Amino acid sequence: MKVTNDIKYIGVNDHEIDLFEGQYDVPNGMAYNSYVILDEKIAVFDTVDARFGKEWLDNLKGALDGKSPDYLIVQHMEPDHSSNITTFKNEYPNAIVVASDKAFVMMKQFFGSDYSDNRIIVKDNDTLSLGKHNLTFLTAPMVHWPEVIVTYDSYDKVLFSADAFGKFGALDIEDEDGWACEARRYYFGIVGKYGMQASNLLKKVSTFEINTICPLHGPVLNENLDYYLDLYKTWTSYEVESEGIVIAYTSIYGNTKKAVELLKDELLKNGCPKVVLNDLARVDMHEAVEDAFRYGTMVLATTTYNNDIFPFMREFLYELLERGYKNRKIAIIENGTWAPNARKRIKAILDEAKGLEILENGVTIRSAMTEESKKEIEELAKILK
Ligand code: FEO
Repeated sequence: MKVTNDIKYIGVNDHEIDLFEGQYDVPNGMAYNSYVILDEKIAVFDTVDARFGKEWLDNLKGALDGKSPDYLIVQHMEPDHSSNITTFKNEYPNAIVVASDKAFVMMKQFFGSDYSDNRIIVKDNDTLSLGKHNLTFLTAPMVHWPEVIVTYDSYDKVLFSADAFGKFGALDIEDEDGWACEARRYYFGIVGKYGMQASNLLKKVSTFEINTICPLHGPVLNENLDYYLDLYKTWTSYEVESEGIVIAYTSIYGNTKKAVELLKDELLKNGCPKVVLNDLARVDMHEAVEDAFRYGTMVLATTTYNNDIFPFMREFLYELLERGYKNRKIAIIENGTWAPNARKRIKAILDEAKGLEILENGVTIRSAMTEESKKEIEELAKILK
């Protein structure tokens, strides 16, 4: 596949994977992207997951058409991209490996060699000329690992963005939900904790004129780039993306579920533009996480359980803390038959999150809704709408 006249896509699609990085459900598979720039000198960008070495090497050879590459640029050492460095070096022993100093330390750890006899260590703003194509390397620590670099090609105005601007899903399946849905779940799942670092990367690249973004996962982006850049500005700064309210809940016998359904109806009646209900025992946990970041207000509804909160809610809250959840409004509905304690526990867990406003107006249900608790829910809807 051609990205530009000189840049070819040589990545692979993975339809065998069940959980990406051991935790993210990827019903549409996953793409491990890799690229080659064919100029006076030839540079290959990153390799692919271990299981696809042969397919990737065949793609590379097809693009090279008998030539030999001069450089392997390793932007990220996570094994979904680095696992075939040894495969590459066995095939092309004279090619020079280009990476950050931290990446070479990891290469030694993963593969037993840091290629010290045939490598270039790059720092921020270092450059490499391939002929027409002049590459500038920028460090992007913690987007998503500390050794990450991204690369700008000033000739074709292409940003090779490593994990940034990536997305779940193989490239040979059309994503009917569009780019943002699985890109958002990917971003908050994988990089969410490092918003500040991702935001710094956006600032660094803002001086470049960019026509195309080549990420390590998901499609090559070459139209309407402001749309993607604006979304990334919102996500990396933890700003609210969409109007509306998300209700994340657990329910054991359906009584808490009835309460959140009533709240949803009342919110919509009061003019709230959108209400999303997430049953934390049944939805994909990382869909629930992305919704928590997407909306400015979240209602948490759960039961007291073993003098704590229901396990799916507890897991959800820790998933949010793990990713630096902040600057949002929270309301709590708790349900408890003999000693309701969920509100206290939720507040204690969320205490370490920054900038949360937890409303005093909550609702306590004892087993099932009463006329009184229904009124409290109606009142809550008026406050939140
Ligand atoms: Fe796609 Fe952080 O690896």
